[in-house]
Amino acid sequence: MARPTSATIHIDALRHNLGEVRRRAPHSRVMAVVKADGYGHGLERVARALSGADAFGVAALSDAERLRAAGLSQPIVLLSGFNEADDLAQLRRLNVETVVHHPVQLEMLAQAPMGEPIRCWLKVDSGMHRLGFPAEDVREAHARLAALPAVATDIVLMNHFASSDEFAESPSQGRQTHAQLEAFAQATAGLPGARSLANSAAVLGWPQAHADWVRPGGALYGISVVDGKDGADFGLRPAMTLATRLIAVNRIRKGERIGYSATWECPEDMPVGVAAIGYGDGYPRHAPAGTPVLVNGRRADIIGRVSMDLMTVDLRGQPDAKPGDPVVLWGNGLPVERIAQAAGTIGYEPVCSITRRVRFVED
Ligand SMILES: Cc1ncc(COP(=O)(O)O)c(C=O)c1O
Repeated sequence: MARPTSATIHIDALRHNLGEVRRRAPHSRVMAVVKADGYGHGLERVARALSGADAFGVAALSDAERLRAAGLSQPIVLLSGFNEADDLAQLRRLNVETVVHHPVQLEMLAQAPMGEPIRCWLKVDSGMHRLGFPAEDVREAHARLAALPAVATDIVLMNHFASSDEFAESPSQGRQTHAQLEAFAQATAGLPGARSLANSAAVLGWPQAHADWVRPGGALYGISVVDGKDGADFGLRPAMTLATRLIAVNRIRKGERIGYSATWECPEDMPVGVAAIGYGDGYPRHAPAGTPVLVNGRRADIIGRVSMDLMTVDLRGQPDAKPGDPVVLWGNGLPVERIAQAAGTIGYEPVCSITRRVRFVED
């Protein structure tokens, strides 16, 4: 029998979430960020579902290659930029735009052989200090880029936010994003070209950052990174439901201990369910006892350690549960944000971690 573990991708939810982004940022074009295999949902599947987006954002040229092979003709932007001179030929061949964030890339573009001009997104480091030209170098970088024959004339100006998940609901909040907005505005004042600042959290909470292009990733998959809030709090729908089945229900006696390292002791004689999912499927091993799952649509708690192929759940709330009953790990009815919070991470990580032995289906 096949393993009963599956990730169902909700195509309608992806489309709904894109509509929600458009509703919130009606004057912006939308770059759907589909890196990391569409945040673990499947690159081609997600891109087809989101074919109404104005562009796709990827982190690797291989992803751009896959999108073109799937017949998608929308603009594609390489968000981490190119790393080698040879990449430029690939960008041209695939008709892919690129982020330019470092002087070494200006050099490579200056040495590029004659060919189609490449559209560039000049990245400003407005305070995150990961990728981007320091604010004081932006004008010079822009002038150098604009003068290169290998570069298309319509250079886009962009940055990336470090803390846009903290909304400015009081004067003490959102300080970093205010500072980044100000630094970006100063660094780019008077320069021509479209602007792009907002990731998902900024789409949801920073309308003043919407500008010409928004670049949501997580929101399209229905996931919030805002502390204490689920996607549903913003009108988003989960795009993935991870599910399996119980493969055993055992009665375990009071005082007996469950699973590896015997970390959980039964407080009474009780039914313990065994579900066919574990960290070998991408479920976070660090999810502690008490992390919720849904058995037959009703909440039950994980008990003991999550192991590679299996997890154990407390069935005292539903003593009639039996092998074969459905178990939902996250998705419809149970936001992935809750599991992420229990496991000390954000909702993006679990969905990106599903392994290949899990069957993907669409509905
Ligand atoms: C440059 C850039 N833009 C947009 C995004 C999308 O971010 P989010 O998924 O939080 O919307 C990312 C993701 O990390 C990114 O690196």
